[in-house]
Amino acid sequence: MPSYAIIGAQWGDEGKGKITDYLAEKADVVVRFQGGDNAGHTIYANGHKFALHLLPSGSIRPHTLNILGNGMVINPVSLSLEIKTLKGVGLTPTIAISNRAHVILPHHIEKDKENEKTQNIGTTLKGIGPAYMDKVGRTGLRMGAFVNEALFEAYLRNDQTHDLTEEKIKALLDTYAPFQKELAPMVQDTSYLLSEAFKKDQFILFEGAQGTLLDIDHGTYPYVTSSATSAAGIPQGAGVSPKQIQKVLGVVKAYTTRVGEGTLVSEMNEELAHQIREKGNEYGTTTGRPRRIGYLDLVALKHAHRVNQFDALILTLFDVLSGIHPLKLVIAYDYHGTRLDTFPAEPEILAECTPIFETLEGFDEDLSTLSDYNQLPQAAKLYLKAIEKHTGIPVGMISVGKHREQTLRMTNIL
Ligand code: IMP
Repeated sequence: MPSYAIIGAQWGDEGKGKITDYLAEKADVVVRFQGGDNAGHTIYANGHKFALHLLPSGSIRPHTLNILGNGMVINPVSLSLEIKTLKGVGLTPTIAISNRAHVILPHHIEKDKENEKTQNIGTTLKGIGPAYMDKVGRTGLRMGAFVNEALFEAYLRNDQTHDLTEEKIKALLDTYAPFQKELAPMVQDTSYLLSEAFKKDQFILFEGAQGTLLDIDHGTYPYVTSSATSAAGIPQGAGVSPKQIQKVLGVVKAYTTRVGEGTLVSEMNEELAHQIREKGNEYGTTTGRPRRIGYLDLVALKHAHRVNQFDALILTLFDVLSGIHPLKLVIAYDYHGTRLDTFPAEPEILAECTPIFETLEGFDEDLSTLSDYNQLPQAAKLYLKAIEKHTGIPVGMISVGKHREQTLRMTNIL
């Protein structure tokens, strides 16, 4: 049985939640391997809209095991709330939480807010960066210790870094007692669970959060998140071997969006951006912030491909481009008169790049009702062909709406 990685090929918000839920129809296990509740994965199913932040997007399917891997940073309060919300609509997903995943506590959120005053990354203020700082600084708290009353108290009492007074410790112990109890039965060695799933030849999906351009190493540093969002984050963040990832699927929006700070070379004029933002509902799932909008940036996409080696692209929100004339693809950057075909590492250089476009004809047809690739208008087919030609990656699937049935499969690669 296959194991697929579902990776964001841009700055997050590519629609990975919908795609993971769609592919989870046949999956046995869905695994998150990095990030925390900074993510926002929106799924429309069973007549409901679900906004998942920590739970893997297999949680809407009754048959999947949903793993929160060791590479994640978990806010127990948010997780509990998410589980309750699903219970409220009659869903009781099977959940396993890694005992090695790190815990986000209130002081991480406070520190995130404080840092933002001077750093201006435009974070989600969920405490992600400070929790990962504690992890690599070897001062963090892991889920296995969190759900053990004695270990949690010992951790708080031995803490030298967060200025915890006796009063604060007492408050933390009281606040978290119900969450320890609730989550304890789910906390286990999820790397072991995955090794058993592989032994049974089960179908496993690794669900990325954020996107490759927000990767701590390969993204637009420092305007990135604090985890490895690319496929390379999977073995480390799930406790599997790199050899166990069979196919890497890149989820890419038909255009580009970005929230938070940092340059967006392909950014459109606000009139066009507004049109796309409203049609594509381009507002953050986690923070509600309006997303910045750009043309599809193939320089960034090729960079993501180099890092991830995508077996196929899954193009999302294609229906949103109907009525946009002309369509444009960013095929290279101009940096003070020099053509750049690769994505620069320095934000200062990126900030001075301007796009070199390939211009294509647009289309007016409504794609949202289509059920087959062959029904696409010719201009839409040529847009896909141009992406394939420039990147060398086959487009394997297209999403033309938020519902499961608005998904067109193009090749038998999946
Ligand atoms: P953090 O992950 O909250 O530290 O935020 C760091 C950067 O990543 C900011 O620019 C955020 O807007 C961005 N970011 C974090 N999570 C997501 C996401 O799920 N989608 C899009 N951008 C995100």
